[in-house]
Amino acid sequence: MCTMTPGLEEIAKEELLDRLKDPDISEISRGKMYFRGNHNLEELCKLSCVDNIYIVVSRLYIGSGKKDLGELDEKVKKLDFSVAEQLLGIKEKPKIIVSASKKGKHSYSRFDLSNHVTELLVKTKKFEAGDIRDHNFPIRLDLNQNECVFSVQLTKSDFRFRGSNYEYMPGGIRPTIASALIRISKPDKADVFYDPFCGAGTIPRERSYMQSRRILASDINPAAVACAKHNLPEHIKVFQCDARDLKVKDRSIDVIVSNIPWGKQIEVENITDLYTDFFREAGRVLKDKGRIVILTDREEIVECAETTGFSISKETTISLHGILAGIYFIQKAV
Ligand SMILES: C[S@@+](CC[C@H](N)C(=O)[O-])C[C@H]1O[C@@H](n2cnc3c(N)ncnc32)[C@H](O)[C@@H]1O
Repeated sequence: MCTMTPGLEEIAKEELLDRLKDPDISEISRGKMYFRGNHNLEELCKLSCVDNIYIVVSRLYIGSGKKDLGELDEKVKKLDFSVAEQLLGIKEKPKIIVSASKKGKHSYSRFDLSNHVTELLVKTKKFEAGDIRDHNFPIRLDLNQNECVFSVQLTKSDFRFRGSNYEYMPGGIRPTIASALIRISKPDKADVFYDPFCGAGTIPRERSYMQSRRILASDINPAAVACAKHNLPEHIKVFQCDARDLKVKDRSIDVIVSNIPWGKQIEVENITDLYTDFFREAGRVLKDKGRIVILTDREEIVECAETTGFSISKETTISLHGILAGIYFIQKAV
């Protein structure tokens, strides 16, 4: 099973089919995808649009009453975690933490469930109880009505952040979302790529993992420019610049991908003016078949793009901490 930002399921599916050999996708639900396949951890960790990857150990029936938790005992004792142990390279007694989520009516809480399963597994003497700081075997329980999926997380907690040596700026997005934006932009190895609202540089950094002719990144805020310079490899050109007056030659860019300000974490005097002025500049710097992918929750974007000579379509809506934002694909109108 892999998890992703809700709204990115189809993009993640496309990536899975592209990168893994014969994945057999069996189920897609909000923010989750189940698939079968014979893949090792290294292959799985090449997936860049997903947040975490798990191996499903079992799906068990659990009743809704507190006493039903007691009936789990025999089933849980028989669960076979050996493939997960192998994939994680664990040779000694695994140190577990168990987290649970649940949907539906039950007379026990998700904490009752996770504590019960922890106690059962420790009683088998095959596992040791760990804690949030000290564990090597994170078990996840997803209880939906009366079916509980038992899985083990294969990816480390910093997997979706691409490690820990990265500085963030306000309004920053997760690398996995940046990667999905790039996939939507249909990247090509001959592209000159540009993010004119780069913030900490998350989007250009994801683009740098693929071939391109050139990558440019700019921001109006000097602190963001300094942060992006720290985060990005040297071959990416990072500079300070107002996206309403780009210091870039006419018709020199193939693709722009940006998480532009939404007027929330990054204050903007007038969103419509900013978007309109930016699109006018984008029309100047983009080649004729150039394309733009934008993430924003502001619907004004549609009118701003259309009045400046672009056609625009919403590819998907994603849910970010409860806020719904659109991902738009934009091209010069013909
Ligand atoms: C939503 S943030 C981008 C965050 C970035 N994608 C990241 O992950 O760190 C928007 C950025 O636009 C920049 N910005 C605001 N107005 C701008 C303008 N007129 N020209 C260029 N950048 C601008 C802000 O400084 C901010 O860094």
